[in-house]
Amino acid sequence: MEEKKPLLKMTGISKSFPGVKALEDVNLTVYPGEVMALLGENGAGKSTLMKILSGVYTKDTGKIEISGKEVNINGIKESEKLGITIIHQELSVLPNLTVAENIFLGNEKVNKGTRAIDKKLEAERAKAFLDQVGCKIDPNVLVKDISVGEMQMVEIAKALTKNTSVIIMDEPTTALTDVETRKLFEVINNLKSRNFAIIYISHRMEEIFEICDRITVLRDGKFVGECSIKDVDNDKLITMMVGRKIEDQFPYKKVSEGNTVLEVKNLSCKGKIENVSFKVMAGEILGVSGLMGSGRTELAKTIFGEYKKSSGEIFVEGNKVNINSIKDAIKSGICYLPEDRKKEGLILGLSVAENMTIANIKSYENSFKSINKSAELKDVEDYIKKLSIKTPSEKQIIKNLSGGNQQKVIIAKWLLLSPKVFIIDEPTRGIDVGAKKEIYELLNELKSMGKAVIMISSDLSEILGISDRIIVMNEGHLSGELKREAANQESIMKLAVGLNN
Ligand SMILES: Nc1ncnc2c1ncn2[C@@H]1O[C@H](COP(=O)(O)OP(=O)(O)OP(=O)(O)O)[C@@H](O)[C@H]1O
Ligand SMILES: [Mg+2]
Repeated sequence: MEEKKPLLKMTGISKSFPGVKALEDVNLTVYPGEVMALLGENGAGKSTLMKILSGVYTKDTGKIEISGKEVNINGIKESEKLGITIIHQELSVLPNLTVAENIFLGNEKVNKGTRAIDKKLEAERAKAFLDQVGCKIDPNVLVKDISVGEMQMVEIAKALTKNTSVIIMDEPTTALTDVETRKLFEVINNLKSRNFAIIYISHRMEEIFEICDRITVLRDGKFVGECSIKDVDNDKLITMMVGRKIEDQFPYKKVSEGNTVLEVKNLSCKGKIENVSFKVMAGEILGVSGLMGSGRTELAKTIFGEYKKSSGEIFVEGNKVNINSIKDAIKSGICYLPEDRKKEGLILGLSVAENMTIANIKSYENSFKSINKSAELKDVEDYIKKLSIKTPSEKQIIKNLSGGNQQKVIIAKWLLLSPKVFIIDEPTRGIDVGAKKEIYELLNELKSMGKAVIMISSDLSEILGISDRIIVMNEGHLSGELKREAANQESIMKLAVGLNN
């Protein structure tokens, strides 16, 4: 590799936003045919650096070279012309257009005679590009009817229609199933062999070790280092990212269990879950495991009143509750933090503080119906500190926060409602290693406060690391229950695929 010339070289890049120095003197060098991981904690500057490269932002200072030639990137079109394609943290396909229309958007070939787009020809050309990424979908279907994994393939196919040489993937696997992730890795390896350069951003350590050749690490907007993946192990990588050692990634804490807080009896939701029964005690974290599509989220949403149950009963602290809506659930002391927190939980134009207290604003009202601002501010500041939310102030508009920091605000929002039962879906998705531990400590704190916590997670080490008890779902059924002491990777996987030990 050393004799090759870099395809992309960024040196001394800096960028400030009002009140934030997002990047300071950052370097990034990428060779053709390699996957370069771009790593760092939430808010480290990864997305900002990539937005500079793709023309969304302009740099304040620094130099960008492509194949040895210095370039100026002003705008997305220019970046594309230089062969750079970005697949954003939030996908940018248009749901109401077809797959083929998305692939050729802005790049349509018009029939010279009729001046119309030849739809049939476009579909055929789209198919050829989809074939290159091994994607079998019909180019004529609407994008809103395909899966997230397929949308990603559409974005990659779209990149291939252009004269692309650098493909940036910003947290590509956060919404993918295991099978889709495997597929994406196959495509990445294929792109590598065709000499594309790939810049890969992810918070999932196993992925980095599996798919990346080299790493570049940022911390607080600064360049920490660059090396071959072979020269680091997990601990070293974490230390580079966080700036200190993280001992004990999963801080388990035993709390003496109290009474049953939530009991679910024979709960069914037509076509989604069937006859699920379990209990959660005060001071307990119940882990919910299972493969993607096994009904974990459906179970949560049925308890939370978002899906209408077809039969079964729910008890909170021994009293039967009637849940027909989300409002009923919240009133009964149940809260649910969705996995797709950005889509379901944020108002992008409002501030960090407003987003955090929006669901709980009534609790700050005094008898004259005016808001006790200082009490509100105290809570907000408290959680900014507790969850290490990186923001210049509580007044910052939430859309300016990094992806991971937005997630933390939503977690704080629900914590402020102080429910009795706390259902949290994929609590650490998109969250960096350091903040993960803080979230686990917070869940432990909820335990100490006597709350019942239900944690749904695809991350087996997280399930094993912090649950007191584990239930496993398979095809909408509960396939088994394991005590912390009896649970291991194998016993969970057996249940997850439907083998009752
Ligand atoms: N448009 C903006 N206006 C103001 N501040 C911004 C803007 N975009 C990013 N920032 C700030 O710049 C810093 C770097 O953010 P960036 O999105 O690059 O982080 P990241 O490394 O991608 O983090 P994550 O892993 O959470 O996605 C953060 O402090 C963020 O709040
Ligand atoms: Mg980001």
